[in-house]
Amino acid sequence: MAKILLTGGCGYIGSHTAVELINAGRDVVIADDLSNSDKSVIDRIEMITGKRPDLYVSDLKDKKECEKIFDENDISAVIHFAGYKAVGESVLSPLKYYRNNLDSTLSLLESMRSHLCNTIIFSSSATVYGTDGVVPYTESAETGGCSNPYGWTKFMIERIICDTVLANPDMSAVNLRYFNPIGAHESGLIGENPSGIPNNLMPYITQVASGIRDHLNIYGNDYDTPDGTGVRDYIHVVDLAKGHLAALEYAEKHKGTECINLGTGVGYSVLDVVNAFNEANHLDLPYVFAKRREGDLASYYANPKKAYELLGWKAEKTLVDMCKDSWRWQVYLKNSENKDGGK
Ligand code: WQD
Repeated sequence: MAKILLTGGCGYIGSHTAVELINAGRDVVIADDLSNSDKSVIDRIEMITGKRPDLYVSDLKDKKECEKIFDENDISAVIHFAGYKAVGESVLSPLKYYRNNLDSTLSLLESMRSHLCNTIIFSSSATVYGTDGVVPYTESAETGGCSNPYGWTKFMIERIICDTVLANPDMSAVNLRYFNPIGAHESGLIGENPSGIPNNLMPYITQVASGIRDHLNIYGNDYDTPDGTGVRDYIHVVDLAKGHLAALEYAEKHKGTECINLGTGVGYSVLDVVNAFNEANHLDLPYVFAKRREGDLASYYANPKKAYELLGWKAEKTLVDMCKDSWRWQVYLKNSENKDGGK
């Protein structure tokens, strides 16, 4: 049976997408270098779905390792999540980001071509809209003007994929531009588990709530937004995962490249998220207002129309669902660390 290759499939969005694909009857194989994930995710995907995806612990920058996956499996399509994704780190170590994110993509595309695998779904980001985009972002908006090397790698990989598909009319590609993925699978068995101090809002909130961090710093309450705090389009990671299945089904029927936003179209402020988290979980999160974070925009969110019209997909889960599911995952994490002696 033809398989779907998920690069970076042990990661936050990759693992949730693996669950949705397996539940939809797809045969999944995962390639991951485990630089920012753990192979125990495979066990938990199996616990959720009853099926265990094959795992290749591979560095996709190594062409031989990449080819080996395609030599040993009949891969009909690839969903490409693998890549470094910490904005701040990308500013400090740009070459590490360009080398890793671009080389792995080039090896992957060459292996796809040499094995007649013609379909790719790419994990892109709203960050490609740069800092001057008109809100809500539509896919026809200009891209580029990224504010960090991480964002530029997403922009460049979209271009690489578009050009490869233009040169090979038998190929199909969808560049999925994520907004702000948060939440976790309802089982509480998979979720976001950033190493070190979380950069992103929700994992920081859940670590404050579980006592790992003292309080939340809200970066800026003097933006031109309803309550002065930053506004973003938070989307439940399960909705996002379902969007990948919809994009795959579309790409299997249509040649060429499409760029598609995956967002809810609704913007929530930091304080909206904090209040929803407290209400959903009967907690009272300590926070202080701190100065703005360098590079942050006041407000952005998606126009999600194209995803609905082209893929028949729209986000369904609420901010309360995102807050409840995030907290359940954090509690699971804490209990499993306690059981493992905090390993
Ligand atoms: C959200 C809001 C912060 C942490 C990033 C990447 C983007 C994409 C999604 C991959 C902002 C505020 C945050 C905290 C806070 N990643 N905040 N205190 O910056 O919108 O987007 O993640 O594609 O590329 O840039 O997400 O969660 O970091 O911030 O007040 O401790 O929460 O100022 O308004 P962001 P975020």
